Amino acid sequence: MLVLESLTKRFGANLAVDRATFKLDRPIMLGIIGRSGAGKSTLLRMMNRLTDASDGSLMFGGRDVLSLKGAEKRAWQSQCAMIFQQFNLVPRMDVVSNVLHGTLNRRSTFATLFNLFPSDDIHRAIDILDRLGIAQHAPKRAEALSGGQQQRVAIARALMQDPKIILADEPIASLDPMNAQVVMEALRRIHEEDGRTVIANLHTLDTARRYCDRVIGMRDGRIVFDGTPAQLTTGVARDIYGADETFSEEATSTEIRDPQGAAGRMHAPA
Ligand SMILES: Nc1ncnc2c1ncn2[C@@H]1O[C@H](COP(=O)(O)OP(=O)(O)OP(=O)(O)O)[C@@H](O)[C@H]1O
Ligand SMILES: [Mg+2]
Repeated sequence: MLVLESLTKRFGANLAVDRATFKLDRPIMLGIIGRSGAGKSTLLRMMNRLTDASDGSLMFGGRDVLSLKGAEKRAWQSQCAMIFQQFNLVPRMDVVSNVLHGTLNRRSTFATLFNLFPSDDIHRAIDILDRLGIAQHAPKRAEALSGGQQQRVAIARALMQDPKIILADEPIASLDPMNAQVVMEALRRIHEEDGRTVIANLHTLDTARRYCDRVIGMRDGRIVFDGTPAQLTTGVARDIYGADETFSEEATSTEIRDPQGAAGRMHAPA
């Protein structure tokens, strides 16, 4: 289904992602972990074609994703919808309009200019919000919602595109534990019920273990682990994070101490 072969991104002399290679042969929920700067975001951005790869290949259903241009590239980008740590909603716009923006790339400029949404789409948006437990907030401005609710609006917007893959870049890093759980459960349910692939960069090990079928660990741009949560032992995790023996399972990448003691915080707080 999805095949990455030596996918590489260089920023000048810096190898942000170094020959990333893996294959998904069925829809799964995949977690990507690793300390700050390991290359997690760059990997997702290359997959979505937000960033051009320097080298390597990315195939989906036998198609060469990296060579897509124009309308085909945009079609790919809606097939692998992206959600972000900071939600990226339009704060002053109401929730349902934010969700409807997930259909923008298949609407005419005219309809977009005048904010004309087909009523079928409006109904679908409300249904998706309902499924995520936030339909009652549909008329409110996005900025009036809690972080967990806003992230569910962002998921709803992604679902409007009916994507095959959802790419989530640290979807819960700005949320308290309660909201983090609600959002992760929503992503898990979308995977299980709809058969969509979810690929999420996660900043805690226990979240990756708990929700994902498979986990990839990155260190210095390279994939250094690819296996099941059960194979992700404390020793392996310590290695991925380059942490010392004080490393604990509950640690976030924010807290993990560098063995050299150079970086107290590995992950700048949002
Ligand atoms: N636009 C850019 N220009 C130059 N260097 C970049 C750019 N984006 C990322 N990098 C570099 O690429 C490397 C990987 O960064 P990336 O953001 O992918 O890491 P990450 O694993 O997502 O980290 P974090 O956990 O902090 O989000 C880092 O060394 C970073 O400084
Ligand atoms: Mg990142």
